[in-house]
Amino acid sequence: MIFLVDHFFEGKPLASRVPLRNNDEIIFVDVTLEPKTTYVDKLATQLKEKFGTVSGIIGIGGGSAMDLAKAVSLMMTNPGSSADYQGWDLVKLPGVYKVGIPTLSGTGAEVSRTTVLTGPTRKLGMNSDFTPFDQIVLDPELTKDAPVNQRFYTGMDCYIHCIESLEGTYLNEFSKSYGEKALELCRKVFVDKNNWDDECDDQLMMASYAGGMSIAYSQVGVAHAVSYGLSYLLGTKHGIGNCIVMNHLEEYYPAGVKEFKYMVEKNNIEIPAGICNSLSEEQFNAMMDVSLGMKPLWENALGKDWATIMTRKKLRALYEKL
Ligand SMILES: NC(=O)c1ccc[n+]([C@@H]2O[C@H](COP(=O)([O-])OP(=O)(O)OC[C@H]3O[C@@H](n4cnc5c(N)ncnc54)[C@H](O)[C@@H]3O)[C@@H](O)[C@H]2O)c1
Ligand SMILES: [Fe+2]
Repeated sequence: MIFLVDHFFEGKPLASRVPLRNNDEIIFVDVTLEPKTTYVDKLATQLKEKFGTVSGIIGIGGGSAMDLAKAVSLMMTNPGSSADYQGWDLVKLPGVYKVGIPTLSGTGAEVSRTTVLTGPTRKLGMNSDFTPFDQIVLDPELTKDAPVNQRFYTGMDCYIHCIESLEGTYLNEFSKSYGEKALELCRKVFVDKNNWDDECDDQLMMASYAGGMSIAYSQVGVAHAVSYGLSYLLGTKHGIGNCIVMNHLEEYYPAGVKEFKYMVEKNNIEIPAGICNSLSEEQFNAMMDVSLGMKPLWENALGKDWATIMTRKKLRALYEKL
């Protein structure tokens, strides 16, 4: 078993609690930057050269470490580069056994059918039926020491998944049932509670799970589509990037944005502004290309005629506000 553990835990008690046996190995993964296809390929090649194959990959960490575990598992059996599989249903073979153990709550990466990777030409997931984990372990105690800001940004990823799913055209009873539950739990934690306690960790972990289930059979929407552009060009992290965008989406999600702003204020969080101020024409175009490439997200958000609604001019104006 290969444990891909978030580098935050190097030298921390959690690392020494991992019960290694025989050839089992811990690899601390660098998540300073969100996962790249080159990093996934490097890890998989390294494991293939050393072991031929492995019994399983166990990812312990935030969304980045879990996504790395999913992608490396798939690349142990699928030929070529992980960049070849960025898209929908391109993965042809099951990976090796994979387990996810989240240490931050919100991304839903523990249940989703994607692993989000930045590749040579795009930031896009390996979305496939072979991508979800075979097993997950949800232990809210592992999220206990997460910094307040990080916990909020990742938690908001879940809140935004719910709004985008529940307000989307792809909505169905499956997604609605999970989305409503996740939203209720997010509200308990970020709206009702005045102090963070163990119950909040429990509730946010289940919110993340349910939010992930909700988008499994629907899609995310405008905040994610725009935030992917930021992340591709500027390296903006997923959670904070979503928050930066959500702050300006009144037109698309009026009630959700109002509540989002309330949660930001109540939890004393600073959302960066002006991050696109000094970008060139070329850079705006690159961001818009990545964003408009996320067709299912736009279609979910705005319907089949989305391209006539979200024109380049309109998207450009939105990016300028960020
Ligand atoms: N696969 C999916 O369905 C999906 C969905 C949403 C986001 N994502 C991906 O997830 C990533 C974002 O994940 P994230 O928001 O969980 O953050 P992250 O995994 O990028 O981690 C953020 C920071 O928190 C640290 N950290 C992790 N656990 C900690 C803990 N318990 N205490 C203190 N620090 C801790 C990490 O070391 C890192 O510095 C992005 O790469 C995004 O693309 C994937
Ligand atoms: Fe997300």
